[in-house]
Amino acid sequence: MPPTAPTTDHPETPTPDGSDPRCIPHKLVKPLPVGAECKYPNYSAEEQDVWRTLYARMETLLPGRAADEYLTGLRTLDLERDRIPALADVSRKLERATGWRVARTPGLLDAHDFFTYLAHRVFPSTDYIRARSELDYTPAPDCFHDIFGHTPMIVHPRFADFYQKIGQAALACQDAATEEGLTRIYWFTVEFGLIKNPAGLRIYGNGIISSSGETQHCLTDKVTKLPYKPERLAQQAYDIWHFQDPLFVIDSFDQLEHEFVRWAKERSLL
Ligand SMILES: [Fe+2]
Repeated sequence: MPPTAPTTDHPETPTPDGSDPRCIPHKLVKPLPVGAECKYPNYSAEEQDVWRTLYARMETLLPGRAADEYLTGLRTLDLERDRIPALADVSRKLERATGWRVARTPGLLDAHDFFTYLAHRVFPSTDYIRARSELDYTPAPDCFHDIFGHTPMIVHPRFADFYQKIGQAALACQDAATEEGLTRIYWFTVEFGLIKNPAGLRIYGNGIISSSGETQHCLTDKVTKLPYKPERLAQQAYDIWHFQDPLFVIDSFDQLEHEFVRWAKERSLL
């Protein structure tokens, strides 16, 4: 999740009034717990059931829609269906796959803190889960968005490197316009990216994968699909409260990374 925007699990929803503490970015005063330092919360039976419900719902929607690379990552992490996974376990598996680890964040992070972790191959994840009343919409990332949605893609070596470079480039931004462009690139790739798989167009962006409504909508003809070009993405404004249109399609994760590195180098960000 970009640190500046809440989760749009349910488009057409009014903007929250900002009173929800999950929507207020945290400026860190001490480092986050990482890997084995992340304690397993004392989840209630209700919270565990919300995870089961969300998992079961997406498991039926993702075949034929999610990218092969995402589904491979999901299998590699072997995330529990019946119990919220422990961040420490997810971190251990990610570290084995691509050298990334997971930190526990209390909510949205300040942008500089968030990108600093990415630049060091650490993914800040929440460990709380939305209420049952928020199955279709939550104003801020929760652990279903972060764990189920984001971590499987970080198993892919090219995506993992791309994600780190996003963090590195963000820390090097010196002006608001470049920063805005990079935030848009993040939005239309990490959160809302599509890829051409051999069997057809598939989803790898987590803003889609963790939203049942957007997952069913995004591959239809109602949404304009454009080729991935960082310059073009950097110019595309987005509206977090509606289904995304247009979306951008990569040919491969090699292309995603190479084109981003070129864009960033041309701006002295890498
Ligand atoms: Fe996200």
